[in-house]
Amino acid sequence: MLRPATFPAGFVWGAATSAYQVEGAWQADGKGESIWDRFAHAPGTIVDGSTGDVACDQYRRYPEDVATLRELGLGAYRFSISWPRVVPDASGTIDRAGLDHYDRLVDELLANGIAPFPTLFHWDLPQWAQDAGGWADRSVIGPFADYADAVVRTLGDRVGTWTVLNEPQIFVFMGHGTGEHAPGFRDPALALRASHVVNLAHAGALRAVRAAAPNASIGSAFNMEPAYPASEDPRDVEAAERHHARVNAWFLDPLVHGRYPEAFVDQEAVLARMDIRPGDMGSMVTPLDFIALNIYSRAILAYDPADSRSAARRLDGPPGPRTSFGWEVWPAAMHRIVRRVDRDYGHPVIYITENGCAEPTGPGADGQVHDADRVAYLAGHVGQLARAIDDGCDVRGYFAWSLLDNFEWAAGYSQRFGVVWVDFDDDGGRRTVKDSGLWLRDLVAGARLDYDDALA
Ligand code: FCB
Repeated sequence: MLRPATFPAGFVWGAATSAYQVEGAWQADGKGESIWDRFAHAPGTIVDGSTGDVACDQYRRYPEDVATLRELGLGAYRFSISWPRVVPDASGTIDRAGLDHYDRLVDELLANGIAPFPTLFHWDLPQWAQDAGGWADRSVIGPFADYADAVVRTLGDRVGTWTVLNEPQIFVFMGHGTGEHAPGFRDPALALRASHVVNLAHAGALRAVRAAAPNASIGSAFNMEPAYPASEDPRDVEAAERHHARVNAWFLDPLVHGRYPEAFVDQEAVLARMDIRPGDMGSMVTPLDFIALNIYSRAILAYDPADSRSAARRLDGPPGPRTSFGWEVWPAAMHRIVRRVDRDYGHPVIYITENGCAEPTGPGADGQVHDADRVAYLAGHVGQLARAIDDGCDVRGYFAWSLLDNFEWAAGYSQRFGVVWVDFDDDGGRRTVKDSGLWLRDLVAGARLDYDDALA
């Protein structure tokens, strides 16, 4: 049955970006090198050979982007802070000029009635921290907390909501296991050890933020894809559960429940190789004021003993819409995973900090960008979010990924996620609001949206 989507009073509507993906200015004002600078500059890492050196030039063009957020009626902007801008070298000295950029951005947002939602780490680790062992070495824990402390003490008088990490599962496993992301290691055992260090560093930084901003709302953003079993066969159901544990819960359960979820067929052997020391598990448990979710698609899993890790094999979905990245469009994924997080973590406050799709559509003859597939994608997913809210989940906000077409990591500029078109041929990028941006504007202004309450 179709039902009208409604959202609670005070619901936050926003759009998201991250520093390396949009800022450019990779050497401005004393900024240090990040692992993404190093990685993208290495040949063969990015499909189109591009880098984030210039990206959307938001470092200079931020007033224009803030004006666009305002035009769209969005009440919040999720951006990330570049650690190597703030701490350029291993001495740990704070670069005032780097931090000043975020000072100005926050002020510009507030002057336009837009709430800043900064993320402290969205993948651009300083190269100096990598040289000391990066996320695979416990020496990163202290400097990460110090960096968090410095940022929060500077901006905390104007920022009410802090997100500490973005998608630990992606930066750990794609950065250290598959090598598709910086720092580019292909060592699954290293990735597992790094996952434990990241959990410790995460808890440490959460505590540092709490100490520096006792009244702020503090959380982290986790990528989540609901795991659908290929059949009702209990072996498929268990395989899907292991996938859920490995992808969705691996970085959240230690913080909330103080243990790793059952993700591997040889779980004990895996844990034994992770250098878990006495006291670690207890020290990870840290209160979160909200859980932020980045949701794009779903996974379908079948039991497969040939997979030595989780005895689970990912299947392609049925024929149906795909984004240009090849990701299955499955709006009910939004409803299902929000319900699951609500159930498993004690009815937490939830934000959707990323949701969106890649679609290449650019300006047509009329100069407008008619990205109809993205409009359909957003309508479907926002509708299913409203359904989760009607079911009682405490969702407080939704951020479209992304405000701008930007540097999509290993895919370079080949995948466009923006509700605003960026012309990368025009140095730093002329912007054009797409139909999807106008759709979002109308939705925020109260346009009617219906959702299907029977999607599975
Ligand atoms: C997420 C990332 C974000 C962007 C989207 C498409 O995994 O957090 O930076 O790349 O995917």
